[in-house]
Amino acid sequence: MSETSDLREAALAVREMAYVPYSRFKVGVAIRAASGTVYRGCNVENVAYPQGTCAEAGAIAAMVAAGETSIAEVYVVAASDRPVPCCGGCRQKLAEFAGGEVPVTLATVAGAEEATTIGALLPGAFDAGYMA
Ligand code: THU
Repeated sequence: MSETSDLREAALAVREMAYVPYSRFKVGVAIRAASGTVYRGCNVENVAYPQGTCAEAGAIAAMVAAGETSIAEVYVVAASDRPVPCCGGCRQKLAEFAGGEVPVTLATVAGAEEATTIGALLPGAFDAGYMA
């Protein structure tokens, strides 16, 4: 069983840094990479709305910038009523670096958690194998 409490702490802490003047909806993500190191990301919005980036994208960018490309576990948290699901684009972004079996915990700030996997979030994923 994976231990997610350190990921929750990391995701909650980075969520506080979210730049969300437009939605006011802060999201925090913590990714445990294959090495065990935890990378964090928050959403960063922009006045040109489509230029905003999701928390997942920030955490992935931090991981890749540190030289890692394999995700072992993901934790996503927001102050929603129910555990916040990753958006469609972020499911594809995570799947680039995570196999279908990789555990993902969707959570609320209040403490509700939903355990899922990359494969369940993105069934029928397009991958490089289709380009062979
Ligand atoms: N958001 C994320 O950061 N991750 C998700 O998976 C869902 C949505 C952000 C994007 C935007 O800044 C705000 O939540 C509202 O959509």
